[in-house]
Amino acid sequence: MKGIKTRQELIKEYVEFFKGKGHKHIPSSSLIPENDSTVLFTTAGMHPLIPFLLGEKHPLGKRIVNVQKCIRTNDIDEVGDEVHHTFFEMLGNWSMGDYWKSEAIKCTFEFHTKVLGIPVEKYAVTIFKGNENALKDAEAEKAWLSLGIPKERIAFLGKEDNWWGPAGETGPCGPCTEQFYWKGKKAAPKKFNPEDKNWVEIGNDVLMEYEKTKEGKYIPLKQKNIDFGGGVERTFAVLNGFDDNYLSSIFQPIIKEIELISGKRYGKNKGETRAIRIIADHIRAATFILGDEKAVKPSNIGQGYVLRRIIRRAIRYGKLIGIKDNFTSKVAKSVILVYPDYQELHVNKKFIEEQLDEEENRFNQTLEKGIRKFNGLASRREKILTGKEAFLLFQSFGFPIEFTEELAEEKGIKVDLEEYNAEFKRHQDLSRTASAGTFKSGLADDSEQTRKLHTATHLLNEVLRRVLGNEVKQKGSNINPERLRFDFNFSRKLTNEEIKKVEELVNMKIKEKLDVLRDEIPVKDAISGGAQAEFGAKYPELVSVYTVIDKKEKKGWFSKEICTGPHVSNTGEIGKFKIIKEESVAAGVRRIKAVVE
Ligand code: ALA
Repeated sequence: MKGIKTRQELIKEYVEFFKGKGHKHIPSSSLIPENDSTVLFTTAGMHPLIPFLLGEKHPLGKRIVNVQKCIRTNDIDEVGDEVHHTFFEMLGNWSMGDYWKSEAIKCTFEFHTKVLGIPVEKYAVTIFKGNENALKDAEAEKAWLSLGIPKERIAFLGKEDNWWGPAGETGPCGPCTEQFYWKGKKAAPKKFNPEDKNWVEIGNDVLMEYEKTKEGKYIPLKQKNIDFGGGVERTFAVLNGFDDNYLSSIFQPIIKEIELISGKRYGKNKGETRAIRIIADHIRAATFILGDEKAVKPSNIGQGYVLRRIIRRAIRYGKLIGIKDNFTSKVAKSVILVYPDYQELHVNKKFIEEQLDEEENRFNQTLEKGIRKFNGLASRREKILTGKEAFLLFQSFGFPIEFTEELAEEKGIKVDLEEYNAEFKRHQDLSRTASAGTFKSGLADDSEQTRKLHTATHLLNEVLRRVLGNEVKQKGSNINPERLRFDFNFSRKLTNEEIKKVEELVNMKIKEKLDVLRDEIPVKDAISGGAQAEFGAKYPELVSVYTVIDKKEKKGWFSKEICTGPHVSNTGEIGKFKIIKEESVAAGVRRIKAVVE
C-alpha cells in the first residue's frame, strides 16, 4: 500500500483525485446545520447539500468534493473502544444529477486501489439485496464484477445495512454499496463475511434515487445522485496498519498529553485506556464545537447541552484516572495542534480554552457533592432512581440525565426516564424564559419589538451587501426584545465610516415608509426571483417570502428574503436604527448588534 503518513496527505490525495475527475472542492460547512431544526449537528457531508441533491442548481456545478467535519452522538456509549468517535471528518464526493452508479463505483475503486494502493485481495463490497420499496441492485453488482471483484467478495444485505438516509425525517436517500478492507494479520478469506470484525468499512457510495416524503413514501428523485462518504480516522488508521484508530498520528499527540497530565499509560490497563480514549474523543469534539464558526457555548439546551454533556463526561473520566487539576483546556491545545488546516480552531483558540476552563470550574464545584448525593440515593434497597431525583441531580448538581444514567448503570440501577422527562417539562413550562424558548427565524418571542427588530434585520442584511459588496451573506441571526444580532461573512473589521453608512442607509429605508409584503410561493420561484436564502438550508416546497417594496428600485423592491416572519407591515413602524457593536465571532465572520429606538 502507498505510504500515507499524515491525515493531511490522505485528504490531499482524495481531493486532488476527485478534482482530476472534474469535481469542485468546497470547504467544510459549519457543524451546526443552517435552518434545519430537525437535527442539532451536521452528521454527514451530504447534509449541507440537501437542497442541491433535491434538484436546486449548485453554483459550482454537478460535481463536488469536500472533507466535512461531522458530529454523531448516537454511538456515544460505544466511544471508548478502538473505532467509535463523536467527532470525525468525512471524505465526500457527489454527483448531483451527473454520473451514475457504474462511474461512481469505478471512481471509488480507482481511489481505493490505485491512489491508496489497497490490494484487491483485501477488498470486499456489500450491495442492497432489495425489498418492497426497491429492487436488488443488479447494476451495482455488474459494475463491481466488471472491475474484477470476485462474486464471493460481494455480500447482499438488507435495508438495515445497505440503505442510507434520509439524514432527517424526509429527504434524499437510496440503496448503498459499501467497501471493506481486510485488516486481519492472516490472508483475507476468499469468502467475504461482513460480520467478521477484521473487515472494516472504509467507504459508502449512496446511490440516491429516492426521496422519502412526510407520509413515509419513497418517490423517485428529480435527479439521480451519488453521495460517497468515507471516514478519515478509520481509513487513515487501516492504511497505517493500526487496529486501533487512537494509535494513529491523528490521536497520538492528544493521547500523549493525557498521559502526561494523568501519569497513566495508554494500553496498559483496559479501564484506563478506555478512559483516555473517551477524554481524547470528547475533548476533540468539544474543541470543534466550541471552535465552530457558529460559536456554541455550553448550556442546557440544543447543541450547547450536547457540548456540556461531552465536556462533563470527559471530566468525570479524568477524575476516574486520577487527574486532580483542570485539564480539558490543556488537552484542547493538543487537539488544535493536530489541525493546522482548520482556521477557526486557531482564531477561536482563546475562546475554546476559556470556555473549557469555565465549564470545568462550574462542574467541579458540584461534581463531588453530586456524586455523594447520588451514592446516597443509590445505596437504598430499591434499584431505581425516581425521575424527581434524577431531575434534582440535574438542577442542583448539573448532571446531564445521560450522565446520571451512566452512573446508575454502573451500579445496576434503573432511572425512571419517563418521570424525569415529565419533571423536566413541568419545570420548563413553569420557568419558560425568553432565552430558553427559541422561536422560528432566530426570534426569542413575537412581540411588537421583535417584529421591528426582525424587519430591521432584513434591511440591514441588504444594506450590508450594498455597502460592503455582494458577497456578503447572512451567517446567523438572533433577536430578542432588546436587540438584534446578525452574523455575516466578511474578512475584516468595518471602518467607522462603513458603520455610519450602514446606519444611515437602514434609517433612510425606515423613513421612506416602505410596505412589507408576505407571499407564499414555491421555493424555486423564490430563489429565481432573487430572494435571499441561507446557503445550504433545507426549505419546504412552499415558502413564505417577505419583500420590502421600493418602487425606486429597478426590481421594484429593496429586500426579499425567504423567512417565516413575523414582520411589521411598513418599515415606518421600526423607529431609529442604531448599531451598538461590531465584532468578530470567528474566522471571516463578523457580528453586528443593533437596537431600534
Ligand atoms: N451519507 C453517507 C454516509 O454518511 C455517505 O455514510
